Amino acid sequence: MAEKFLWGSATAAYQCEGAWDADGKGPSIWDQFCHSEKNTTGITGNVSCDFYHHVEEDLRMMAEGGQNTFRFSISWSRILPKNDHVVNPAGLAFYDRVLDACEKYGIVPNVTLIHYDLPDYIGDQGGWCYPGVADEFAYYCSVVFKHFGDRIPLYVTINEPNHNAYCDYCVGNYPPNETNLQHYCQCAYNMAVCTAKAIREFRKLNLKAQIGVVQGCGPATALQDTPEYRDAVKYCNYFCNDWILDPAIKGAYDPELIAAVKAKGIDLSFVKEEDLEIMKHNTIDFLGQNIYSRMLVKPNTSGITAFTVNNAGNNDGSASAARETRAIAGWFESDRDPNTKLNHWGREIFPQCAYNTLMERKRRYGDIPIYVTENGHGCYDVADENGYVEDDERIEFLRNYLHYILKAKQDGVNLKGYYVWSTMDLYSWINGYKKRYGLVRVDYDDPQRKRTPKKSYFWYKQFIAEHQDL
Ligand code: BG6
Repeated sequence: MAEKFLWGSATAAYQCEGAWDADGKGPSIWDQFCHSEKNTTGITGNVSCDFYHHVEEDLRMMAEGGQNTFRFSISWSRILPKNDHVVNPAGLAFYDRVLDACEKYGIVPNVTLIHYDLPDYIGDQGGWCYPGVADEFAYYCSVVFKHFGDRIPLYVTINEPNHNAYCDYCVGNYPPNETNLQHYCQCAYNMAVCTAKAIREFRKLNLKAQIGVVQGCGPATALQDTPEYRDAVKYCNYFCNDWILDPAIKGAYDPELIAAVKAKGIDLSFVKEEDLEIMKHNTIDFLGQNIYSRMLVKPNTSGITAFTVNNAGNNDGSASAARETRAIAGWFESDRDPNTKLNHWGREIFPQCAYNTLMERKRRYGDIPIYVTENGHGCYDVADENGYVEDDERIEFLRNYLHYILKAKQDGVNLKGYYVWSTMDLYSWINGYKKRYGLVRVDYDDPQRKRTPKKSYFWYKQFIAEHQDL
């Protein structure tokens, strides 16, 4: 019998669980950051939508919405709260409850081992740049693999290594809030080693489950086809894509990428032969691809290296309004297509990028199974007096992107599943709670965090029902 296509939605531990110090959980770097003066808004994920106490209700709503899969992440510091390798049984018990609810409602779990929230004790030692991070991560993963085994059929090592490294060490809006290209490269490298070492632990257990990694951005593209523009695309892909995906999928870095990074003045003495050997033998089974926007670039004529984001949500579409940009001197810089719209956070809305992304992955990596692990629209929702949101804007976004995603499947991409970001409203990193993505509204003024399905929830249910025979 053919495998069922997976239709679901996604969350991440810090963004939805709340219960930040409950039942023996240790602090993560996000707890630490949000409780510090660096967090100028004072907004935290301490309670968020309190998934910790709404597991049953949230899983039931997913099932009632026709969804058959749920992507969530495990909080490392719930499982290993301190720097002593001692497992917290209550942490494991919480995720057992989540898996029990998944089983009860016929929902396939797709579980990410880390979604940005490193334990604070790893942060104290240098975070993703700590040379021992991969061994610590592999130990944590082995605890998870041994405990949950095949109850979890799809494991993801790291959510968006590139975007995580980028925000931590280029933009500097995520902890440890640095702008340091050297550390970006070291972090991205260590993440590749983390994935390889975790996979080595995973393979030892001979599970039936599969393991993958989730990539954040899509391939770079340009509005012009000249040698200079093609170079800009190539360098942007080195920076955002190949640096992560080549070791994970092909088991090795492209020598040209290594040469280009060295020529940029990055000290690659952190690259170790023994790590490269482990990468070679420990590649992923599937790729998770998050799809939000397009990576549009042009040659870097400014000679400037700079990265900007808009965490204020004040983009009004005017030419001067803040948007997401990235530039590396001599390599590439962001371009802007005057014919497309930006959302309030300065991110381009461009549904065709979904098709281009998936087709480019197929071109470079062949028939690797792919899941679209996130796709969603962040906006200011307006609820009526009953908490109901007519989010037509979100529906339009999802409908248009899904059109191109399914077209890529028709054109041969080995697509296995799709996840809306997000299952319910949750904390948006730095942006707080005003930027909403959920299919289900969460009332943050209500201590009980009342849930109300939005119009998009019902639309998605119908869409799934109409697309059962894929
Ligand atoms: C993805 C992350 O990059 O984008 C999610 O995996 C995140 O955790 C989502 O929430 C949307 O980004 P933001 O910054 O708008 O919340």
